[in-house]
Order: sequence, then structure tokens, then C-alpha cells
Amino acid sequence: MATPDLFASPGPSPADRISELRTELHQHAHRYYVLDEPSIPDADYDRLFQELQALEAAHPELSSPDSPTVRVGGKPLDQFASVRHAVPMLSIRTETDTEATGAHNFDSRVRKELGLAESDPPVEYVAELKFDGLAMSLRYENGLLVQAATRGDGEVGEDVTQNIRTIRQIPLRLLPHPNPLPGGEVAGRVEANAGGEVAGRREANAEEVTPTSSLSPWERAGVRAPPAVLEVRGEVYMRRDDFESLNEKQREKIAQGAKNEKTFVNPRNAAAGAVRQLDPGIAAQRPLSFFTYGVGEVTPQEEGGPQFETHFQLLLTLKSWGFPVAAYTQTAQGAPELIAFHEKIARERDQLPYDIDGVVYKVNSLALQKKLGFVTREPRWAVAHKYPAQEQITTVLAIDVQVGRTGKLTPVAKLAPVFVGGVTVTNATLHNEDEARRKDVRVGDTVIVRRAGDVIPEVVSVLADKRVTDAPQFTMPRSCPVCGSDAVREEGEADYRCTGGLFCGAQRKEAILHYAHRRAVEVDGLGDKLVEQMVDANIIRTLPDLYKLGLTALAGLERMADKSAQNLLQALEKSKSTTLPRFLFGLGIRHVGEATAKELARHFGKLDAIMDASEEQLLEVSDVGPIVATSLRTFFDQPHNREVVEQLRACGVSWVEGKPAARAPQPLSGKTFVITGTLPTLSRDEAKDKVEAAGGKVAGSVSRKTDYVVAGTEAGSKLTKAQELGIAVIDETGLLLLLEAPAG
Ligand code: IVH
Repeated sequence: MATPDLFASPGPSPADRISELRTELHQHAHRYYVLDEPSIPDADYDRLFQELQALEAAHPELSSPDSPTVRVGGKPLDQFASVRHAVPMLSIRTETDTEATGAHNFDSRVRKELGLAESDPPVEYVAELKFDGLAMSLRYENGLLVQAATRGDGEVGEDVTQNIRTIRQIPLRLLPHPNPLPGGEVAGRVEANAGGEVAGRREANAEEVTPTSSLSPWERAGVRAPPAVLEVRGEVYMRRDDFESLNEKQREKIAQGAKNEKTFVNPRNAAAGAVRQLDPGIAAQRPLSFFTYGVGEVTPQEEGGPQFETHFQLLLTLKSWGFPVAAYTQTAQGAPELIAFHEKIARERDQLPYDIDGVVYKVNSLALQKKLGFVTREPRWAVAHKYPAQEQITTVLAIDVQVGRTGKLTPVAKLAPVFVGGVTVTNATLHNEDEARRKDVRVGDTVIVRRAGDVIPEVVSVLADKRVTDAPQFTMPRSCPVCGSDAVREEGEADYRCTGGLFCGAQRKEAILHYAHRRAVEVDGLGDKLVEQMVDANIIRTLPDLYKLGLTALAGLERMADKSAQNLLQALEKSKSTTLPRFLFGLGIRHVGEATAKELARHFGKLDAIMDASEEQLLEVSDVGPIVATSLRTFFDQPHNREVVEQLRACGVSWVEGKPAARAPQPLSGKTFVITGTLPTLSRDEAKDKVEAAGGKVAGSVSRKTDYVVAGTEAGSKLTKAQELGIAVIDETGLLLLLEAPAG
């Protein structure tokens, strides 16, 4: 800290700066989390955040519960306190007809209750999504979040304020958010639909001349200020992507031996678990989101509270106060537009970033809502219109194991066909052995299956009390169900893999493509589509079949002209003369990349020596650790794989064997290069080959270990990184000069 300069003009006082920072951070967070339109880079946000943290630490007397720094915190609770809702939290009646006609039923009921004749104009509704999360009531007093409560039985809920504060979309303090830019989740339809409705806006008053400085932030922004008491109601939910990554993390923890961890069944359960988590530190690690759809207690108009005419106006106002409103929310005239909405959402539902279990229709006019009133706990002016369920019960007929393109073994439950989420499902993934055993799915079991979004159907859980089977627990087969090679599970990994890479039918396409890769044995012109066709037409089963191809077989393939067939045969012929490292890399042995293949070739000189080397001998090679050594050993222990290698040799694939003669010292030995951008004459592969031929290494990313960055045109972040780290940057000419330099 510099000595204070008594003559300098004073900066803002800590109190002013703190308040400035809080406002600014709240606003940026709203842009980021609610509007999905960040206004400053993350790093700038972090800097402001840290400045605020430092100031607050130095001035504890200025701490405040609405500071953006105190979202996470508080001690674990023993239990939640009860909260009596000032205005009960209602539920909505469900329309049982899941077809579009269900919307008709609702509209007819409303019209009848209101005594409307057929000739009367259509009733205006608001159509919303029915979010699949849990209802929440957020109470703000004088603009500060003071309490968050669950619905409970509708009368009394639980105080979950600590956990709800961690949801970044929920404002801790209300600030004006006028006129959000179009595009974000909130903007879209809610905005577009606003039409002439000047919801939260105050009419500008020309006669009132007030100096700007004495205006409240609300007045300055032209947004109606929120009332003294405001209860915002809505749904706390978890996005599908957040749910997937949370479960991914959970699976990792379990694989690493954590005892008290579990995966979550669906986003709703994960959200409910997080909200009801007694330790706010844990709740903070469960990413939740929020949408508002209404209000509870609000300061009455007589006491200066707002007056709304329509539900839609209310939603737009909540939006201007910083609350997320789903972009899908829209007004709809009569049954036809409700039906159109139901159908549109049915089509787009799978692509939504969160789960819904239907749509909700509400009469838009608040006066008409009042007129319609309630039956028991359910308003007559609203209805939930559902879609076919995304979870169903069925039975497990068998548990099969499927082999993926990369050899991964996945247990799959074969199910009695069941209609879920709009399609008939007969297979559901069990992910891996641990998951299958944790859920303890057995043949004959009654299970819940779920299909949501584009996600592969999965078995959620077993209905244990319905178990009649005496089938044993699932165990993963120790050999590949497709080719019979050993299936192994490496330490710290969740998956079993087939080790018959070259031989296994399931891995055929992948293995051939890898072999033909330009950095492996290189078969020019043998790409994705062609391999797919050849394998599907069964003219190639294993790698050696490539060299038995004839013109007739090729000509039979779709879109294969004579000329291309000739070219391919030539390329295959050319590929027969290769090098040991290329061949070894081309075999596609797990963990054996290009660099390792080169080291192995350099060390052993002969393929047979590598195939027969013990793990200890393999470990002597620089670049080879225990994982690589085991992988090599397992690969060559499969008789099938050795057979493929022999056949390839018999087909004429060859290379010059023998260790390279002790070579003259190489000019680039020990140096690491990164090549970025477009070089004037060399392709990146050519440059790489040249560096390696001269004893250098080429890495993919810049670090302190990098010696040179070779930059061409349009070099991007790697160049910047090099400059930051002070690493030598050269161009192609510079590289060519280095290559010519004598070693030393
Ligand atoms: S309005 C007076 N709107 O569905 C009506 N509820 O039974 C009060 N829900 O648990 C609720 N999306 O949490 C309303 N757009 C939406 C909704 C919604 C989901 C939930 C709500 C409650 C249940 C209603």
C-alpha cells in the first residue's frame, strides 16, 4: 500500500466503493446468469469480486447479507424452520387428456363458468411451461431477499433460505433491469409479446423536473420500483446439462471409492435433494436454476403496492425486477392458440435445456381470475396440461453386453416394450458394471425406465418389493461377447474394454480407419464413408482383407467409379512399404500413440522383439510406463491380434527392420516445438516430420517446457501464450535455419 497522499483528491469512501461494487456485480451477475449475455469478461468480474471481498474483509462493519460475496455460507443446520405462507401456495388442476383436445376441455369450462356465449370473443390466456422442479416462495422486504420457503403442504413450508441464496439467478437485492437485450432466455417471446403493454414502465412525466442525482435507481431506469413486500413464486429446477455433469462427478467419486455418495435419478430429485440439503456448502455445489411464474403476498395497492391488470403484465414486471421468466411464456387467444402451443412444445420439448412435465394455461385477466375463483385448493382459472410420461414401469427380459466402436463394454437391459416419452423403448443402458450392480438390476426385475430429451433410455431403479426372480447379480463377462478376446478393466476406470482391437467385429471400422490414417500406415483415399460401406457390405472383416480387395468387389460399392477404385488399389499397394513406427501405431493398441510407437521401434528395432517383450523389458523404453506396458502385453497376448499381424506381413506389408545405426548427433535433440497457424510452404505435418527427423519433439500446447513456437499466419492463442511466457517465437524460415544448424 502506498502512503496516503494528503493532497490527492479523495477517492470514494470504502462504504461508497463497496456499495458501487455490489451494485455493479449484481448487475453483471444478472446479465450472466439470467439473461445469458455476459457484459464483461470473466476475469474482470473476478477482479471486481476480489476487490469487494478485500474491502469487506477490511471493513467488517460494512458487511451486508445482500452482498454478492455471501451467496455461499452459513453453518449446517440440524433441521429447517417452519414457515407459514402469508398467502397459501396452491396447486393446479391437471387436465387428464394428454392429447391437444385437452386444451379445448379447459377453454370450454372457463367459458361456461364465465357465462360466455359462442358468439363472444375468445378468452385470452397465458401459456407457460410446467417446469419439473419444486415450488419456491421468495420473500423480499424493501428489496432484500429475507426468506425462501418450500411449498410444504401449501400452508406451511420449510425455510431453505441459505440454500436458495446459492442460486445465482435469484437476486439477493432487487435492482432495475429495464429493457433486456433480445436473445437471452428471458428476452425472446416475453419481450416480443409485450406489444403495447408498458408493464413495469412508468410513463415519462414531462412536467416533473427532478435533478437526476436525487432520483432512485428505479426512477433513473424508468422501471416501477418493487413494493415493500414482495413474494415471488416460481420453480427451482436443475438444467439437464448441469444434472449430467453432477452425476458424472458423482460416478467419479463412487469409482474412487467414496462410500456415502450416490448418483441422482433425475434432475427433479437432484434439485429437491439440493434444496433440502442441511449443509449449504454442499447445496452450493449442486447447480440449480429458477423460473418465476407468479406472486404470493404483495403490498396492497392502498399501501402503495403495484396494480396489475393481467398475469402477463405481472410477469413482465417481475422480469424488470430481475427475475427469470421462461422465454416460451406467451399470450394465447382461445383454445386454438392453446392447442398450437401444446403441439409446438411437444415438438421442441426434447431440445429444451430442462425437463418439463407439461404446459400450464392461465386466464390472463386478473379480474376474470377473481371471478372464476377456486374449488378447494385449485384455481378454476388455471390448468396443467401434461404430456405422456417420461418414466414408465416395465420388466427386464435380459441383460446384454454391447461393444462400442472403441471396444467399450456397456451392459444394456432388454425390456418388455414400453411407451415412454413418446417412443417405444426396448433397451435401456445400465452404463457400466458398477452402476448395474449399484442399482442391482436383475433379469426378471420390475424397473422404472426413463427417457427424457435425446438422452438414451436408462433404468432409473428397481422396484425391490416386486422382485420375484432368483436371478444372480449382474457381472460383466471377462471376454468380449462379440469376438471372445479378453475384456479388461484398467485401474481407476469404470469401463471394461475388449482387447481384440484388430480382430473384434465391433471395432472393425474404427480399427481400419486408424490403420489407414495418414500418420499411420497411410492408405490415401480410404475415409470414413468408404470404410463404413465396405464393412457393412462385408467385403472387409479384418485388416488383411484390405489387401485382398479386387476391382470387382470395389466396383460393387455405391458411388465408386472405376477410377477411384484403381486409385484405392494403388494407394493400398503403396501402403505396403511402410516403417515400423507407422505400422505399430497403426495397430491401434490402447495408449500407444505415435511418439510411443517411435520410441518402441527405436529401442527394439524389430516387431517380433516388441511382441515378445515382457512388461519389465517394455518398461525400459523411455516413454513407456506401467499402463502402456500392460496394454501392449495384453494386446499381443491375444492370439487373434498376432494372427492379424502375421497375415498383414504375409500380404506384403513390410518395413526395414533393425535399430537405426548410431546416428550423427541431431540438431534439435532435446528441444520441444509447438507449431501453430499456417506456414508459407510446409504443411503442419511436414513441419512436424522435419522436427522429429532432426530429433526434436512436437507438442500440442505451449507450456514452460516449450523451447520454440513456430508461428504462421493466423496463429492464435498459442502465440499469445508463448509471448506471455517469454518463449522464442520463430517463423518457417527460422525453423529451416535451425534444421540446418550443426548439432550442439
Ligand atoms: S402456477 C395457482 N405455473 O406445478 C397456481 N405452477 O400444482 C400456482 N409448476 O408445485 C402454480 N410450472 O411448482 C404454476 N408455470 C407454472 C408452473 C407451476 C410448474 C408447479 C408448481 C406446483 C405445481 C402446481
